[in-house]
Amino acid sequence: METRILAVNNVLPEPGVIETAAAVIRSGGLVAFPTETVYGLGADAANPSAVEKIFAAKQRPASDPLIVHIADLDELAQIAVEIPSLAYELADAFWPGPLTLVLQRSPRIPPNVTAGLAAVAVRLPAHPVAVALLRASGTPIAAPSANLFARPSPTQAQHVFADLAGRLEIILDGGPATVGLESTVLDLTCDPPAVLRPGGITLEALRELEPSIVYATRHVASGAAVSSPGMLLKHYSPRAEVRLFTGARDAVLAQMRKQIAELANVGILAFSEDVESLGNHAVVIDLGSTQDLSAVGRKLFGSLRQLDEQNVDVILVRAPDRNGIGETIWDRLYRAAEGRVIEAD
Ligand code: TXA
Ligand code: MG
Repeated sequence: METRILAVNNVLPEPGVIETAAAVIRSGGLVAFPTETVYGLGADAANPSAVEKIFAAKQRPASDPLIVHIADLDELAQIAVEIPSLAYELADAFWPGPLTLVLQRSPRIPPNVTAGLAAVAVRLPAHPVAVALLRASGTPIAAPSANLFARPSPTQAQHVFADLAGRLEIILDGGPATVGLESTVLDLTCDPPAVLRPGGITLEALRELEPSIVYATRHVASGAAVSSPGMLLKHYSPRAEVRLFTGARDAVLAQMRKQIAELANVGILAFSEDVESLGNHAVVIDLGSTQDLSAVGRKLFGSLRQLDEQNVDVILVRAPDRNGIGETIWDRLYRAAEGRVIEAD
């Protein structure tokens, strides 16, 4: 299959381009599209054979459920049933935006969308191209991140092309994603509600609205029994081995310098403040300042891909403080490192 990349304006998407992509969705094909978080690999959520193609293209296990995207809150009642009032309060506060709600699945949603689960994940994205595609398609769109399974999520159209060329019809290129980290997944089918994946909406912001929300992310090593979907530790992985350093800054930087001296082919993801003290003898990418972790989040996945292109064997990175968006960045780095945390002291 030939994969076409179509440039699209990310503020006022051209109706002709959107219609071309929507026709592919309606006919059961696959379209990658930009959202504010990461690029999604979309198919008609009401068409089980179209949904099947997503799993095949990504080489994603059929046991890992997909997020259903909608353009208008009215559509929620077609996707889920027994929707609690908290869902509407959260939607009011955070939609459109990087929050995914897990609710009871409506019988209208084919079981393969949710990997057979009784719960369905739903999100109303805040990207004009995503919204235009949803409206023109006239159907909810099931979409995981448009990367190969276990690779870093795509924040640019070129990342999608690098992973999936030949496996989908169209990639809508709306430029780089503005959040750069996936949505926060919040399960409302349990009591208290539980964050299953930290993401673009912080835990602190959610708790301002509903203080009882718990943080229930699991980091499961591959091979271990997986109790919740999508919790596999090996995730967002570049080819290189990632090592995540925690502890006091000076101790961490000393440890990192020691490893840089010992290793032949090493890449560094560095905060701006740290670049000078790590700069020599390694490929260094400046992630941005610890004072602006949103900007760091935007750059993170692309930087992991960039270091892979430079063929480094090992990537060293200092962990951010685990609050606000720092928790999300920590989670992605921890998964990229497959749990290899080095405690410096
Ligand atoms: O920002 C995002 O969420 C992006 C954009 C494209 O919307 N999508 C995304 O999808 O990251 P994906 O498939 O890469 O990650 C979806 C996560 C997985 O961890 C999955 O296990 C979880 O949501 N999930 C989906 N449906 C679920 C369900 N019914 N119950 C529990 N977890 C679910
Ligand atoms: Mg993903």
